[in-house]
Amino acid sequence: MRGIFIVMEGPDGSGKTTQINLLKNYLEDRGMECILTREPGGTKIGEDLRSVILNPEYKEMSSVTEMLLYAACRAQLVHEVIGPALERGAVVISDRFVDSSIVYQGIARGLGIKTVSDINEPGIGIYKPDKVLFIDISEKEGLQRKVQQKKLDRIEQEGIEFHHMISEGYRKILLGREDVITFDGEQDIDTLHQEIIECIDHLLER
Ligand code: TMP
Repeated sequence: MRGIFIVMEGPDGSGKTTQINLLKNYLEDRGMECILTREPGGTKIGEDLRSVILNPEYKEMSSVTEMLLYAACRAQLVHEVIGPALERGAVVISDRFVDSSIVYQGIARGLGIKTVSDINEPGIGIYKPDKVLFIDISEKEGLQRKVQQKKLDRIEQEGIEFHHMISEGYRKILLGREDVITFDGEQDIDTLHQEIIECIDHLLER
């Protein structure tokens, strides 16, 4: 039996990771097998590649290299974790998936939506998300939260114009798409969690 594949998307600082952990606890309390993955990463190969992709020292990395590395991480994650988990009927929640590449590399880096989709196709195959939960937040609010949190990685260190393209890019590709549910990321953590679990309960009932 195929499980359920849920992806959480949003700009840096949108609070995705906090919400994913709350959702995982909620589903596990209801006795469901819940696999949590993150991108880039989630496998040994992927975590090694993550440390290359996000290393702020690699200022010379070309946009094409960046796109290919993200696609390679994803292909490995689908092969090793997401595919097998869905085949055995688990709920998979991924912190980012291909829409991140479409927005960050396709739109903000200017490589094009079609190029990025095509490059990712062989690695994803049949394992498309059932639902994408989009946490919408302005670039200003997102960056403010990040700056408070930790040392910024190579992508987070990009300027405000880049992050503006990310917020706008997400809205452009996700708003109105049938498999996407949008949430206001500027509300408090508990309210947002309640909204998310209402949607997930609805999805699971079906
Ligand atoms: P994270 O901070 O959500 O773990 O993501 C790491 C960074 O990588 C974040 O700035 C978004 C970026 N990213 C891309 O540029 N393209 C991608 O395909 C993915 C998955 C993430």
